[in-house]
Amino acid sequence: MNATIKLENVKHFPVLLDEVTSIISPLYGGTFIDCTFGQGGYSKKILENTNNKVFAIDRDSNSIKIANQLKKKYTSRFEFQNIKFSEILNIDKSFKNLKGIIFDLGFSTTQIKDSKKGLSFNSIGKLNMQMGLNDISAHDVINNLDTRELTSIFSKFGEENYAKIISKKIIDFRKNQQIKTEDLVNIINLIKKKKFTRIHNATKVFQALRIIVNNEISELIYGLINSFKLLPVGGVIIFITFHSIEDRIVKFFLRNYSENKNFSRYLPSKVEKKKLLKLIQKKPIIPNEKEIKLNPASRSAKLRYGIKLNNHSDFSEFIKKFSYLLDIESLVKKI
Ligand SMILES: C[S@@+](CC[C@H](N)C(=O)[O-])C[C@H]1O[C@@H](n2cnc3c(N)ncnc32)[C@H](O)[C@@H]1O
Repeated sequence: MNATIKLENVKHFPVLLDEVTSIISPLYGGTFIDCTFGQGGYSKKILENTNNKVFAIDRDSNSIKIANQLKKKYTSRFEFQNIKFSEILNIDKSFKNLKGIIFDLGFSTTQIKDSKKGLSFNSIGKLNMQMGLNDISAHDVINNLDTRELTSIFSKFGEENYAKIISKKIIDFRKNQQIKTEDLVNIINLIKKKKFTRIHNATKVFQALRIIVNNEISELIYGLINSFKLLPVGGVIIFITFHSIEDRIVKFFLRNYSENKNFSRYLPSKVEKKKLLKLIQKKPIIPNEKEIKLNPASRSAKLRYGIKLNNHSDFSEFIKKFSYLLDIESLVKKI
């Protein structure tokens, strides 16, 4: 990656912006929480309506500069906190009239072009992949875990068919030297040498590492639960996902809690069941051809949303459903 790229000149196109706007516009005249501020694409759009307020969150400290510019322009209508969205219950709740919470998951174009973050296959040097406020880096994962642990990370978080052989090669390589980003890409390229596809050979392993380094599974699960708790009845919760694991978690949450079913296995089935959410449509909203042409990175985006109908506090069933993923995430606790 060209280290001379000026990050402030890199433009991130907010994905499905018109679709998000049309979902939330009937609720205008309140506060919206933008859980993934990035370069502020959604926040700016929402603030164009003078009756709205925005509370924004992002784990990346690079967002602070853009947030400060917005704060100067919109003063009391805009607040920002550099925290992770799983911590949404800790935000300053002095705002009134919360109407919606939006998650545009994953990473921004600015982050992938940031050579220091090492999120791109073209990065050189020490492995990183931290988006901000992290405990570990990809360097720690690749240079500390054993074959079995790396295999489960690559196969479960990356859905990588070559997980075992890649992990074995990593262990061999690191006996002699520490593995840098370019070494990892070379190892994967050598193993997959005959597989020429549209998708880069290292995509799946990089996705897996990004997920584990940034605790993306627990962030999403607890981000979902805690934002549901914070949202008043009648508010909308919107998710834009970019890969199948994220989408599986969001889809389960929205579908499971929008059905007339008993949420607790400890309660007899005759107990009155209440829906927590209303789904306007079961199928996800996806970008149209025009958007994909303008912004190819949007092609895997899926938007799902629900309207909160009832309060609820026991999400043990949801957590249990994805405990197999949370367990893999815990493998790095020993580092
Ligand atoms: C796809 S970008 C959002 C782009 C934004 N909607 C815009 O229009 O500029 C995702 C952003 O979410 C942030 N992010 C990812 N996981 C997060 C988490 N757990 N807590 C807070 N921010 C997170 C990333 O740092 C990144 O800036």
